[in-house]
Formats: sequence, structure tokens, C-alpha cells
Amino acid sequence: MIMPLPWFLALLLLLSSLLSARGESYAAISCRKHTASLVDFGGVGDGKTSNTEVFKRAVANLSGHAEDGGAQLVVPAGKWLTGSFNLTSHFTLYLEKDATILASQDESEWPHVAILPSYGIGRDAPGGRFGSLIFGTNLTDVVITGNNGTIDGQGTYWWDKFKKEELNLTRPYIIEFMYSDQVQIAHVTLVDSPSWFVHPIYSSNIFVQGVTILAPVNSPNTDGINPDSCTNVRIEDCYIVSGDDCIAIKSGWDQYGIKFGMPTKHVSIRRLTCISPDSAAIALGSEMSGGIQDVRVETTSAINTESVVRIKTAPGRGGYVKDIFVKGLLLKTIKYVFWITSNYNSHPPGYDPNALPVIQGINYRDVVAENVTQSARLEGIKEDPFTGICISNVDIRLSEKPKELQWNCTDIAGVTSNVTPEACDLLPEKKPAIDCPFPTDRLPIEDVEMKLCPVPQNVR
Ligand SMILES: *[C@@H]1O[C@H](CO)[C@@H](O)[C@H](O)[C@H]1NC(C)=O
Ligand SMILES: *[C@@H]1O[C@H](CO)[C@@H](O)[C@H](O)[C@H]1NC(C)=O
Ligand SMILES: *[C@@H]1O[C@H](CO)[C@@H](O)[C@H](O)[C@H]1NC(C)=O
Ligand SMILES: *[C@@H]1O[C@H](CO)[C@@H](O)[C@H](O)[C@H]1NC(C)=O
Ligand SMILES: *[C@@H]1O[C@H](CO)[C@@H](O)[C@H](O)[C@H]1NC(C)=O
Ligand SMILES: *[C@@H]1O[C@H](CO)[C@@H](O)[C@H](O)[C@H]1NC(C)=O
Ligand SMILES: *[C@@H]1O[C@H](CO)[C@@H](O)[C@H](O)[C@H]1NC(C)=O
Repeated sequence: MIMPLPWFLALLLLLSSLLSARGESYAAISCRKHTASLVDFGGVGDGKTSNTEVFKRAVANLSGHAEDGGAQLVVPAGKWLTGSFNLTSHFTLYLEKDATILASQDESEWPHVAILPSYGIGRDAPGGRFGSLIFGTNLTDVVITGNNGTIDGQGTYWWDKFKKEELNLTRPYIIEFMYSDQVQIAHVTLVDSPSWFVHPIYSSNIFVQGVTILAPVNSPNTDGINPDSCTNVRIEDCYIVSGDDCIAIKSGWDQYGIKFGMPTKHVSIRRLTCISPDSAAIALGSEMSGGIQDVRVETTSAINTESVVRIKTAPGRGGYVKDIFVKGLLLKTIKYVFWITSNYNSHPPGYDPNALPVIQGINYRDVVAENVTQSARLEGIKEDPFTGICISNVDIRLSEKPKELQWNCTDIAGVTSNVTPEACDLLPEKKPAIDCPFPTDRLPIEDVEMKLCPVPQNVR
């Protein structure tokens, strides 16, 4: 005989399902013992009052807990205008669902900071740089997360100045970490960055998870996530619409990058969705002079995007791009499915044109693409051919007006297997068929498990 549930049990079940639907916990690399709200430090979330000093005060205060379980700063629902501020170690910035951090358009709210040693000069202008909105240097164990709150760079101001060539410093980024270890950016939405969105540099153990990045597709240099001279990077479940590369892996610019000599290596990218009509889903370069090695891309989708996993280099860049593994691409409306560029000539003054890059071991497999203009544009350098290119199990459907020459290959060497349309002579078909390599081991960072931390409650 089936008994009806007692009313209190039913209520209890309902309550607990409501609570878990609200998410009582969030996943992070570390949980924190102490919690405070921006309001505790005098924050005003009206979208007009500047909170720059409030953020600085809050971080300075909470840094006192670093040796005692760490602290999280909750940004409650509201619009919190601020200029640049710095984070501290063993710290979490937690954005509630309807919280928006609004970047100030008042230049006096942005410090001037030194040029990056691996770049030598500024990217936008020869002078210095504006500090990023949220910056950290020489930190360990820092988290930026929440219940999908927003950080809005209000980039229109900077894009206009950039286009009118009125800037004498390089534009700020939304988030930058330097010389840091154990950094996580997760479950937040980032919009309209003045320039790049997320820039970890000279850092290790970087997690970017469940991040939505949105910028107009014609906005200048709004790259999504740019790991730069970093080791152990895990990027997963991100959705990016931008005016430049959704992800760009870098390691310094020409003679400065060669001298600094710090590669980016051991990068895992999974479940990325990218829309970027004039750029790549994932670029390797163009600043690759410190080297890029061991990048693994899986299960990635690009729609209305110019190219997919693209190498950008040129004589003068030196360095290397090697051991790149791509597996599982689902593509729609793509100009070039495979693109390697050897004349990406934007150089700083005084570069060495004889510094040739080494491009070696570039593997792509399991690719389905439709509405494609040209299957492949693969250019090496005459006295420096790009070798070890492997492309297997590829099904490309062409657009209504495709290029006549589908595979344009020069100064490269490698193989293909089971690709349509048929590849160029420089990539002969392997018989019997093969799968291009993809590592069977896992990167240690892929196996790092997140902790479940209690969602901060009743913080105002
Ligand atoms: C800041 O830190 C001090 C201890 O160093 C503490 O007494 C104070 O309550 C903290 N909070 C605020 C809002 O200032
Ligand atoms: C953040 O730290 C950097 C490096 O120490 C410094 O140059 C910059 O002025 C700081 N920014 C703010 C807003 O205090
Ligand atoms: C940060 O670390 C770098 C590299 O170890 C070091 O050169 C620099 O002096 C450090 N900066 C600070 C502010 O500690
Ligand atoms: C987060 O917010 C963005 C922007 O509103 C939205 O597109 C995205 O789907 C949201 N993500 C989640 C997991 O709710
Ligand atoms: C940069 O430009 C600002 C105003 O646009 C000006 O005040 C400043 O003096 C300039 N700095 C240099 C180094 O030219
Ligand atoms: C195919 O791609 C072209 C651009 O090459 C685009 O204009 C068109 O809308 C796309 N068609 C479909 C069905 O997505
Ligand atoms: C093929 O690529 C080479 C250089 O990479 C270029 O010069 C040539 O114009 C291309 N050919 C066609 C037909 O697109």
C-alpha cells in the first residue's frame, strides 16, 4: 500500500530541492575562512559613485587574513563603479548574481605601470601601460568567481581613443596576473574590455572555467583569454564572442621575448565555444618568441569565425611552436579551417630578421566543418620549413563560393589521413589510415579537483 508522504516530509523535500537549486556551494581551488562585503567598507552600488578606494581598503584589510584561512570579498547585487585595484594572496573576489563591477572611464582612476619585460615596448603606443582593472602580482591562491556576476570594462571610451590614435599608453585589460601561482577565474561574465580580457603572464597553475566573454565583433584587440609565458593552464567551458582571438597563447615579442625566454607550456583547452568573424578561435602567437609547447585542445566549437587553431609567426620572431594537439572540432561558417601564417610581420624596432621560428609537431584530428571558404592555408618559410604537420579524419563541406585552390601549402611537411577535400601534395595521404597523435597521459592540472565552498549567505 502506498502511503502519501507526511506533509512535513514533503515540505522538507521541497525546501531542500529549492536550496540545492539555489546552489549552496560553489566549486573553487580554495575556500575561505573569513567573509566580508564591499558594503562593510563603505561601498555604494549606484553605478555613479567611485568605489576605487573602497576596493583598495577592502583588499588591504582582508589581506590580514592570508595566514588565517584567507578571506573572500563579496560584491553584492548592484552596480559598483571602480578604477583599477590590486588583489592579494589567499583571497577570493565573489560576485553575486546581479552584481556588476563597472570599470571607470576616468583615466585618473588608472595607474600607469611599467612595460612588460618580454614585450619591451607598449602594444598600442611606445610608452607605458595603464594598469589592469583587476591586477595581481607575486600572488598565490587567488580566485575571482561568483554566481555569474558581471565585470563590465565599458570599453567604448578606450576603443574610440585607440581608433583616433589619442592614446600614449597601452590600454588596460580587465584582469591581469603577473608572477602568480594558483589563480582561478570562474563563473563570471566579462564584457566590453578596453583591450584584452584575461591576461595571466609569467604565472603558473591558471584555471579559467565557465566564463562568458562578450565584446562587439568589431571592437579592437578584445582578445578573450591570453596565457602569456605561463605553465600549467586549464581553460574549460568558456563561451567567447569577441573582436579578436577568443584565446591567444603568447610568450613575448621578438627580441624582448627571445631574451626573456619564458615559454607557455602545458595548456589544456576544452569545451570552448567561439564566435569571432575576423579572428581565430585559438591563436598561437603572434608573440611567441619565448616558445609555445604542449597545447592540447579538445571538443571545441567555432561559429562564424575566421580560423580555428591558427599559428601566427614570421622571420624575426624566433622561438618555437611545437607539440600542439587538437582533437574534436565542430565548425560552422569558417573562412580557413587550417591556417598557419609565416609573414605576421608586426615587429618592434630593432628586431633581428634572422631569428627564425621553429614550427614542429602540429596535430589535428576529428574535425567536422561546414560552410567553409578555404580548407587550408599553410605557409612555412623557405629556408625554414614547418614540419611534422599531421591532419586526420576531417570532413569539410564548402560554402557556396569556395576558393578554387582548397589546400594552399608552401614550405611545409607532414601527412594527412582520411581528409575531404583532398589535401595538397606536401601533405601526402598516409596508407593505411592513421589517427594523428593526441597525448594519452593527462596534464597534472587537468586532474586538480575543486573544493566545494559554501556560498556566502546574507551578505549585504
Ligand atoms: C579591518 O581590519 C581590522 C583589523 O585589522 C578590523 O578590526 C576591522 O573590523 C576590519 N574591517 C573593516 C570594515 O574595517
Ligand atoms: C598595483 O600594483 C602595481 C605593482 O605593484 C602598482 O604599480 C600599481 O600602482 C598598483 N595599483 C593600484 C591601483 O594600486
Ligand atoms: C615578483 O617576482 C619577480 C620574479 O620572481 C621578481 O623579479 C619581482 O621582484 C617580484 N616583485 C615583487 C613586488 O615582489
Ligand atoms: C551568465 O550570464 C551570461 C550573460 O548574461 C549568459 O549568457 C550566460 O548564459 C550565463 N551563464 C550561466 C551559467 O548562467
Ligand atoms: C599622454 O596624454 C595625456 C592626455 O591625452 C597627456 O596629459 C600626457 O601628458 C601624455 N603623456 C605623454 C608622456 O605624452
Ligand atoms: C555561409 O557563409 C557565408 C559567408 O562565407 C555566410 O554569409 C552565410 O550566411 C553562411 N550560410 C549559412 C547557412 O550559415
Ligand atoms: C597560396 O599561398 C601563397 C603564399 O603562401 C600565395 O602567395 C598564393 O597567392 C596563394 N595562392 C592562391 C591561389 O591562393
